Amino acid sequence: MVAFYGTIFMLVVLGHKTEGQFLDLKNMTVRDTFLSGTLPDGFLWGTATAAFQIEGGWDSGEKGPSIWDWFSHLPGNVPWGDVAADSYHKYKEDVQMHVDTGLNSYRFSISWPRLFPDGTNTTINQYGVDYYNNLINELKNNGIEPLVTLYHWDLPQKLKDRYGGWVNDTMVELFENYARFCFATFGDRVKYWATFNEPWSFVAALGDFNHDPDYSMRYKMAHNVIRAHARAWHTYDDDFRSSQNGSVGIVISSMWGEPADLHNPADRQAATNYMEFFFGWFANPIIGNGDYPDVMKRMVRESRLKQNQTVSPLPEFTEEEKLYNSGSTDFLGINTYTARIISATNETQTCHPDGHNFASACGFMPDLMGVKESVGPGWFYMGSNIFWFAPWNIRGILHFVRERYNYTKPFYLSEVGIGETYKYHSPPNLNDTWRMCFYMTYANEALKAVKLDGVDLRGFYAWTLLDNVEWGSGPDQAFGLYHTNFTHPSRQRTPKRSQGLYRTIAQENGFPENANHVWMTQEWLEWCHMEEAYAPTRPDYVEPTSGARPTQPAPKPPVSTARTGQSLMTTGILGVLVVLVAICSP
Ligand code: NOJ
Repeated sequence: MVAFYGTIFMLVVLGHKTEGQFLDLKNMTVRDTFLSGTLPDGFLWGTATAAFQIEGGWDSGEKGPSIWDWFSHLPGNVPWGDVAADSYHKYKEDVQMHVDTGLNSYRFSISWPRLFPDGTNTTINQYGVDYYNNLINELKNNGIEPLVTLYHWDLPQKLKDRYGGWVNDTMVELFENYARFCFATFGDRVKYWATFNEPWSFVAALGDFNHDPDYSMRYKMAHNVIRAHARAWHTYDDDFRSSQNGSVGIVISSMWGEPADLHNPADRQAATNYMEFFFGWFANPIIGNGDYPDVMKRMVRESRLKQNQTVSPLPEFTEEEKLYNSGSTDFLGINTYTARIISATNETQTCHPDGHNFASACGFMPDLMGVKESVGPGWFYMGSNIFWFAPWNIRGILHFVRERYNYTKPFYLSEVGIGETYKYHSPPNLNDTWRMCFYMTYANEALKAVKLDGVDLRGFYAWTLLDNVEWGSGPDQAFGLYHTNFTHPSRQRTPKRSQGLYRTIAQENGFPENANHVWMTQEWLEWCHMEEAYAPTRPDYVEPTSGARPTQPAPKPPVSTARTGQSLMTTGILGVLVVLVAICSP
């Protein structure tokens, strides 16, 4: 009975309040209320990593170089990827760490040049095949389900030298060959494949190290990435699905673009346009009508006309390609860390040094017009100034995607994580209460997405298993549940305190009623919504010199602020009302 009224209360107070494809997440009660409950049976809890960031062994076992090896060996850069976290040699420890954390899945990526040193299937590197076979077997022997990403940014350097990389149409066929080889070689054991990780990041933000001031090359790169994805999915569908019975998806990243005023149609349109440029660029061809979003086609054309460019740099798909693209996925992986507030504007935006408008105004979406990207009052960032704390982005984005695209296939949260800025040679602070806060709040939002919004979410992957090479930042941005000692060649791993909390969440499949964990309560959720909980992640943080570091959470969390106090009060009053109505009705 109590559970029944409790559920009604939760649905009424926290549940669906929508304006079309947007959930009303401005409501502080919704954001600040802890929800008890568990995820569906069979839910996958894991961590995610990427080959370049952890493997090392950059030229061991006849591996060919990738564009990241090339970049990190440029004068002035430090080649952190040469050894990275040494997972090439320590993969068994990585698997054991999953066992120790009670996880049932691991998302890792295959290094294309480790299998095909020159990027083509003319030379197959047996050492590379052995490495991934060993890793996959070790996982399966320990009951851990692999989710394998085929491309996490480490393009074989030879393909860049010979063809210029993704800008060249030949890449579609080369990727198909590589994907086919992986399906044929590992697909008897691997049931979850992701073709690409975050195409927006390696295309729009990075351009594969191409100098591309007018962006036309990046639109072309994206075009080939989408075509390559569709080709790989169809290859699996035609030639492997019936015998292997697995699924092939793609991992797309996006910030959640929340309309500044949900009731203002202009802000809603601006937020929709923002999401279309960020997410829809890659999603619309695959889960939509097979083509780029209409608004994107129009805006690119109009913005280029203003610069007297009569030909749009956004390529066109043929009708046949649109049919081929559309529906070419079995699931969607979403990497989401943060959110932004979006409003309509006629003013030109300039790139802000605090990173709050980096996507729209700092050159990554140059043709997106009429959009102002900012962060909310009282928001704060964690680790790096593009990651603003906004756990509700999980509900926002999952709901948006489902509604906008009528998407009915499964979702996986393929990356969710928090990194702190520190110097890798400083002693680590293993008492990472900020990461405990982060996973508690973000996983609780994942539960709300399932329980309150009815989203078909099947897995949650923490970024990341162990501190690793954060691309150009090296090991000074640490996202791991385990610390990796980068001052020592053995790259020793040590669990951080957050590993224990993540283990509890995974083993209990969420936040069961009456579990009575000190870290999984309304009080702690409120504490975890405060800026001070994340202060140690920031580059300007100075460790207090007096007093020992706390090793346990303070027995009582800080007193609620007016805002959270008010939200609790609202929750309480509404709760009493709902229960009264339920009891009094015949
Ligand atoms: C997204 C990327 O997939 C991953 O490689 C990166 O390290 C994390 N975000 C954190 O920035």
